[in-house]
Amino acid sequence: MATPHIACEPGDIASLVLMPGDPKRAERIARTRMDGARLVSDVRGIGAWTGTIDGIPVTAMASGMGVPSLSIYATELYEQYGVDRICRVGTCGGISPKVAVRDVVVASSAHTSSKVSTIDLPGVTLSLAPSFDMLRGAVDHARSSGRSVHIGPVFTSDFFYSTRTDIIPALDKLGTLGVEMEAAGLYACALRAGREALAVLTVSDHLFDGSGDLTADERETLFAEALETGIAGLRA
Ligand code: ADE
Repeated sequence: MATPHIACEPGDIASLVLMPGDPKRAERIARTRMDGARLVSDVRGIGAWTGTIDGIPVTAMASGMGVPSLSIYATELYEQYGVDRICRVGTCGGISPKVAVRDVVVASSAHTSSKVSTIDLPGVTLSLAPSFDMLRGAVDHARSSGRSVHIGPVFTSDFFYSTRTDIIPALDKLGTLGVEMEAAGLYACALRAGREALAVLTVSDHLFDGSGDLTADERETLFAEALETGIAGLRA
């Protein structure tokens, strides 16, 4: 069996999926955190790695960047491969002064400029939210690890380079913690498929406070920590 973007048998994909944006991160998850990981699909360089994490079968597979790319993979995983839970493990730009570079944001909802919240039902804007059980599992883990973790809405933008930066202060006033480009798409795909999703994000830059960029080493360490929060969400 193959879908247009995934080429493997249904049994090759685990029911729990870790989904970073970057294919190299999916491979790194496989090499550093999985036992017995094998590459089961590699269409367009988006590797799907299946193995076990602490004895539990998991697949790591990247989303690529933005809602259109993520929604292709998430839809095929949920609807063709029977995946139950997908956890996005990615980064966001800080919007709220309450969050700082290096903090973890768990997206308890996702506002968006993408059409995913309005296209399914004319006249209705869908609430795009994660699985409660996954959210609780991730938050319990992050709090117990002593990391600075924030739970709240994020803004899923269709643009990394936006001409409408004027909306960012308004999003801040509405309590939005950060900006990224995939969470709302993931939550919409889960809603359509009747399955579960969560986004766990490390703050990699901040739109207002000018706090410095992360070094390559810091990125890896912080990613590894946020990954554990995502794994806790998947297993909850
Ligand atoms: N992901 C990480 N930082 C971001 C930013 N500033 N804008 C959009 N997506 C991001």
